[in-house]
Amino acid sequence: MPLNHSEKISTTKRIAVIPGDGIGPEVTHEAVKVLKAATSSRGAPLEFTEFDWGAERYLRDGTTLPAEAVAMLRREYDAILFGAVGDPRVPSNKHAADILLGLRAKLDLYVNLRPAQLLDAALTPLRDRGTKDVNFVVLRENTEGLHDLWQRVFSQVKNEYSDIESRHLYIDTLVMEVVRDPGQFRVIVTCNLFGDILSDLAAQLAGGLGLAPSGNIHPGKISLFEPVHGSAPTIAGKNLANPAGAVLASALMLDHLGLASQADAVRKAVRTAVREKHMTIDLGGTLGTREAGDWLAEYITKNPA
Ligand code: NAD
Ligand code: IPM
Ligand code: MN
Repeated sequence: MPLNHSEKISTTKRIAVIPGDGIGPEVTHEAVKVLKAATSSRGAPLEFTEFDWGAERYLRDGTTLPAEAVAMLRREYDAILFGAVGDPRVPSNKHAADILLGLRAKLDLYVNLRPAQLLDAALTPLRDRGTKDVNFVVLRENTEGLHDLWQRVFSQVKNEYSDIESRHLYIDTLVMEVVRDPGQFRVIVTCNLFGDILSDLAAQLAGGLGLAPSGNIHPGKISLFEPVHGSAPTIAGKNLANPAGAVLASALMLDHLGLASQADAVRKAVRTAVREKHMTIDLGGTLGTREAGDWLAEYITKNPA
């Protein structure tokens, strides 16, 4: 995906890590482990700083997204790795709305990229379908209201692509390409709310929520990468969560940072782990969250690009 720019790959990239709630800290911990393995020996060091924004902090002192957070992230960081937010002790979801939806809106992360790629034919519920059949991307408009994107799409079709606002050029361009030649693209473009539902369904076609990654992107600017799943409170703290969604989100982050070979190394490790069942129980493996992360990191270290 030509989402980014050409940054020098030799400079250190600064990553803000927001683990959040429930299984968020567990899966981001493994993602950071894998990112370190993928980048330390490949000439592109990353530097990680963790932020404690989430339910615990909110319940302690009322902080959700600190007032200075957005300016600080823009100024000091190249990308954000996010876990998940949501905690039964905060039924209003006030902190989740402020932190996650706040960052998407305030950083203007208008492209929500959610690839659904089947890595092992055995994992799809579709009969007689394989890895070549389930390989598409859900592009979700991420910052606007329910009908806005579709209104824009249809008005542009009518106007024959004459009057595009540059702010949404990327997503609109893709929409037009899909509209012009639907057979050529395996992309579903959708508005905010329906995109949430569709991308959950897409994840099921490709092996489940444990594997699904997501990028919240403003092309060329600081962007946020997270698994599609939520904080899964019932399995939190039990070393059961699959870290692969967060790990594959990290690969999207590496792509965004211009580190394509490192991203490929991460994806290759996940593909191998899934096929050989070095995975958590949701995918038929026997490993815990930490052990799955260890396996991926070790595979990457032993198989340099
Ligand atoms: P969820 O994604 O947390 O869990 C749905 C189901 O999938 C559960 O059975 C869970 O155990 C399982 N699951 C999810 N991730 C998994 C993983 N990595 N490995 C193994 N199994 C996994 O969705 P939910 O139960 O609807 O929501 C729980 C909380 O998360 C709520 O507070 C919700 O608001 C929040 N949420 C946050 C985000 C986000 O931060 N982006 C996304 C969705 C839901
Ligand atoms: C997601 C989540 C969020 C969304 C919720 C928690 C607001 O479900 O990232 O998929 O719908 O955007
Ligand atoms: Mn969702």
